[in-house]
Amino acid sequence: MKNLCILGSTGSIGVSTLDVVRRFPDRFRVRSLTAGRNAKKLAEQAAEAKPERIAITDKDAYAELKSHLNGWRGEVLAGPEALCELAEEQESDYVVSAIVGAAGLLPTLSALKKGKQVGIANKEPLVMAGPLMIAAAKQGGSTILPIDSEHSAVFQSARAGNHGELRRIVLTASGGPFRTATKEKMAAATKADALNHPTWSMGAKITIDSATLMNKALEIIEAHFLFDVPYERIEVWVHPQSIVHALVEFADRSVVAQLGLPDMRLPIQYALTWPDRLDGALPELPLERMASLAFEAPDRSRFPTLDFAYEAGRKGGTAPAVLNAANEQAVALFLEDRIKFTKIFDLVGGALSAHRVQPMDDLDTVLAADRWAREHVRKTVEA
Ligand SMILES: NC(=O)c1ccc[n+]([C@@H]2O[C@H](COP(=O)([O-])OP(=O)(O)OC[C@H]3O[C@@H](n4cnc5c(N)ncnc54)[C@H](OP(=O)(O)O)[C@@H]3O)[C@@H](O)[C@H]2O)c1
Repeated sequence: MKNLCILGSTGSIGVSTLDVVRRFPDRFRVRSLTAGRNAKKLAEQAAEAKPERIAITDKDAYAELKSHLNGWRGEVLAGPEALCELAEEQESDYVVSAIVGAAGLLPTLSALKKGKQVGIANKEPLVMAGPLMIAAAKQGGSTILPIDSEHSAVFQSARAGNHGELRRIVLTASGGPFRTATKEKMAAATKADALNHPTWSMGAKITIDSATLMNKALEIIEAHFLFDVPYERIEVWVHPQSIVHALVEFADRSVVAQLGLPDMRLPIQYALTWPDRLDGALPELPLERMASLAFEAPDRSRFPTLDFAYEAGRKGGTAPAVLNAANEQAVALFLEDRIKFTKIFDLVGGALSAHRVQPMDDLDTVLAADRWAREHVRKTVEA
């Protein structure tokens, strides 16, 4: 029996994780759940999953959370520190990292340092502080299991050979809602246009990241750190059907890929049950869905985000943290209707160019770079 801490249980990945957990009552117990500020949903989840402890980051939502808790008698915590407390407590063996953005960095790092198994969906901390996260996992004796569908696909496919035989990783991208749009159409895109993802149903931030291909940019860096593969061996191809999630090429030119429906419950389940494969009664992949699988090179002039990732990766140090923070800030401004869609590219590229890269010595350096990038974006927009 694994005791789970689900960080970000009220989000898209958190809800899918609870769906998977429900399918295996003999394998998993929910020890703790956390949310940002959605008190009502967290209370509903607590009533059903019956964890011992729950936490809400926004202290102002604490009273509301208490008011929704009918009949459930566990412990309720509030504030960002509470997330670290739950992520590192002895009673949980497995932490699902499903918060969105940089807010997941400290709790995920806490879990890694304590040697938990950690299923990582929350890619932003790996982008910001990959070397620190990997070092913490090694030091704590923790195992990181990828939940992102592409990285789960790489993880599964790479088992067909040895690390030294790995020649190339290809991450696939749906292409998002603007795959075939003109530059003019992208410049005029509304929030509703950008949130209208063709194949995946996800939280707002990652949906915008999919529309700019920044999600794939972050995934390039995530793959570099997770699989210890140089950037020049990580490629992105657009695959509009979202059936092939990644391909791994080996030294003998054999290519192994993982296929599945665009349904996050499959990579979540694999991350939870690894190294076993179990029947969770998920829908099977109808082979007719494979009748016309297409792959095309991404348009790097309309989507400069991919080049930003390679640039940040090549620069190293604090550059990926700046890429991530500038993007988080720009996406937040777009979601608040303060900037137009294509301004996201300018703001992220501008922050990356303006930043004086520091070596990534410690967490303080990363957090300072994160603050600098957010401030740079805010000031640029105000100006
Ligand atoms: N969705 C997918 O299909 C998918 C696929 C692959 C990878 N991922 C990655 O998984 C992560 C989560 O994505 P998502 O789509 O599930 O996001 P989401 O639906 O927006 O959910 C985010 C979760 O994080 C919580 N949260 C937000 N801000 C927080 C803060 N400051 N402190 C603590 N908790 C906070 C939210 O709580 P409230 O509900 O209370 O706001 C919610 O539980 C992202 O890093 C994303 O890139 C997602």
